[in-house]
Amino acid sequence: MKFFADTADVADIADLAATGLMDGVTTNPSLIAKSGRNFLEVVKEICGLVDGPVSAEVVALDHATMMKEAAVLRDLAPNICVKLPLTIDGLKTCKALSAEGVKTNVTLCFSANQALLAAKAGATYISPFVGRLDDIGHDGMELIQDIRTIYDNYDFKTEILVASVRSPVHVLAAARIGADVATMPPAVIRALAGHALTDKGLAAFMADWAKTGQSIL
Ligand code: G3P
Repeated sequence: MKFFADTADVADIADLAATGLMDGVTTNPSLIAKSGRNFLEVVKEICGLVDGPVSAEVVALDHATMMKEAAVLRDLAPNICVKLPLTIDGLKTCKALSAEGVKTNVTLCFSANQALLAAKAGATYISPFVGRLDDIGHDGMELIQDIRTIYDNYDFKTEILVASVRSPVHVLAAARIGADVATMPPAVIRALAGHALTDKGLAAFMADWAKTGQSIL
């Protein structure tokens, strides 16, 4: 399972990239606004921090302008993945870009039929938003399971990129289903490593080691 950082905070991305455990980054207009930075500048900087795909989203709503924006984004770096909304124009743009070999991430997916369309449009990634479905009383993970089943039924190569991840519980459930990628806020990525018994056990080991009076170096 691949892990992407869902943020436009370059300090966080650099810190997480240094672990060697990050496989890519996703951004969206809200995360760019939160960063307070220039969109093209910050995305270019992020592309230099990670080897994997960096999703950068178009903001046009019509196909022709989406294509023009995608051309600007593609010029930023070779690891750009063009993020497109799950609308008819977004799907049309996805189909055109996929035919040119451009990586695409179709976002704002809330139904299995939408995911089916994205796969037919040749999307590299489909981004179902599990947290936002949970927020309105639906079961986000049920959608992930449905998409997994449908993609496997037809051998679609589109990767399921679980988005709107709010906690380690979402990551575990997505991994059990066999989702390809989870994109997570940095706090969730760090929380995956935490366990109270790890902290307690480490403190005990350190205390006992100190009693030996030895050192390795
Ligand atoms: O990248 C999109 C995404 O992960 C949104 O998450 O928490 O705003 O629903 P959230």
